[in-house]
Amino acid sequence: MCGIVGYVGGERCVEVLMEGLKNLEYRGYDSAGLAVASPGGIETAREVGPLNNLAGTLKGRDRDFFSVRAGVGHTRWATHGRPSEANAHPHKGGGAGGPEVAVVHNGIIENHGELRRELRGRGIEFNSETDTEVIAHLLAERVASGESLKEALVGALKRLQGSFAVAAMSAAEPETIVAARNQSPLVVGLGEGENFLASAVQALLGYTRRFLFVENGEVVEITGSSVGLSTLEGEPVQRETFEVDWGAEAVELGGYEDFMLKEIHEQPAALGATLAGRLMDDGCADLSDLDLNLSDVRRVVVVACGTAYHAGLLGKQAIERLARVPVEVTVASEYRYADPVGDEDTLVVAISQSGETTDTLAAVGAARGFGGRVLAVTNTQGSLITREADAVLLTKAGPEVGVAATKTFVTQVAAMHLLALALAEARGARPVEELREVGRALRLAPEKVEEAIGLAEERAGEAAEVFEEARCSLFLGRGAAFPVALEGALKLKEISYLPSEGYPAGEMKHGPIALVDGRCPMVAVLGEGVLREKTLSNVEETVARGARVISVAREDDAVAAAIAEVVLPVPKAPEVLSPFVAAVPLQLLAYRVAKARGLNVDKPRNLAKSVTVE
Ligand code: F6R
Repeated sequence: MCGIVGYVGGERCVEVLMEGLKNLEYRGYDSAGLAVASPGGIETAREVGPLNNLAGTLKGRDRDFFSVRAGVGHTRWATHGRPSEANAHPHKGGGAGGPEVAVVHNGIIENHGELRRELRGRGIEFNSETDTEVIAHLLAERVASGESLKEALVGALKRLQGSFAVAAMSAAEPETIVAARNQSPLVVGLGEGENFLASAVQALLGYTRRFLFVENGEVVEITGSSVGLSTLEGEPVQRETFEVDWGAEAVELGGYEDFMLKEIHEQPAALGATLAGRLMDDGCADLSDLDLNLSDVRRVVVVACGTAYHAGLLGKQAIERLARVPVEVTVASEYRYADPVGDEDTLVVAISQSGETTDTLAAVGAARGFGGRVLAVTNTQGSLITREADAVLLTKAGPEVGVAATKTFVTQVAAMHLLALALAEARGARPVEELREVGRALRLAPEKVEEAIGLAEERAGEAAEVFEEARCSLFLGRGAAFPVALEGALKLKEISYLPSEGYPAGEMKHGPIALVDGRCPMVAVLGEGVLREKTLSNVEETVARGARVISVAREDDAVAAAIAEVVLPVPKAPEVLSPFVAAVPLQLLAYRVAKARGLNVDKPRNLAKSVTVE
């Protein structure tokens, strides 16, 4: 949460910082700010609310502000201190007895209270309620005493506890930025006569595709012509350049009204890219490049949060059905403190779109405690989790900008099916031809999801009307349709703010049926196979009690049509694809309900896409 960006080089500084922040807004949008340096001092511009507010403020700045050659920027997801201009980054220190400094920070400084007291004791006045401001003052004191900006940052870092990515500048060295990280991500973008810094590569795709990753315990000093990476002890570090294959168009709307809608429509391509090279024509899943011995895996533990957790639940079903290996799926924030049990034959699968979710990273750490092997399923090349895991299975959804996960969900589910097939074959759990048949069916995922989008687009608006007067809603499913129901409920609640819960349909009688009335729509995900019938009878019971029902069912399902007010049709597809096609209408339903309520679907309130604090 929070995004930071930095630039040194030419006069397009402010443009680069603003563009970088635009692409990092998914990390938080409580406030935004810039600091630019000149020998005379540091000038800041800060505004509460989305980046557009800051852009408006900048119109009033004089030309000097735009002719600087170095600056840092920040987009905030508030942790310490409410969203306000005073609490917006960058935070400044110094000025009276020495050069001004400015700091942007992502993360939490846990010992900020103690540092604040100490600094106050030395007569320093604070201008904000943030934890970050202590860094600015610690730096300013050191710079005033004659230390270089880099020396000052290294010295200040020794006093900080917590997680951070921090970038700083000083009026004494107006064309230098220094930065460091502990847990929170930080990348350096490499240019010609200019260099960049950001929380994530997406910020800079319009300017470079060449990056260096900064690791914990390192500090980087950037000028227009140099990038110096060293340990905090001062040892120079050589790091290989990492080239990303994402293009700038991936973070543009491309004619769509919102990123969420664009990303829903990108699902067929995202699935195709994720399966390409891994799922052969004959249905064989090839994960040999992961260099992970799957034949001796006796147990699988999946750790993840939110949508990724739902993908994990579908992965469990696929792995247990195909590979006959027991799977436990745990919410990462619980697992990290659970003192988990396992051994070297346990494969720990950490699913994380961003690859930087703090709880998921900590859950991986907990699994290390018992010697588990770790496979990361992530969408983000070079992310923190790729550096913590033994092997990485990349989903190829491309950058996802909308806060609500859509294309990354279906690609996570596809990746888990690839794992299930590869594990099943490595363990000889099923006849090879049976597995190949499932693999060949999985190859149809892009085209079936494309059909699902077309079908759902036609009806989602009509289904959304059922929610006009709703005060809550329930999403029901059984078997593979149950995690899909959970995901549908999460999509709806996070972007429309309507209380929505996913339930196994068979559990209705054990409590939730008490909620049923005309203002609590039921969304029934019928799925395929024997459980379809069972779900139907559970739904009938709610209809008998006055529920308004929307069913997600095959287009030719006359029974579903008879009990539902609106059917969200899914195409006829092999059973393995039923969660893929059923997820689509639920995404579009949530989208239409939120739009009808006039809400910003890409930036729902209180949320940030990367959850880098506990
Ligand atoms: C919901 C959503 C979140 C994320 C969760 C995990 O639409 O996006 O629930 O799935 O925060 O994020 P990652 O996958 O980045 O670890």
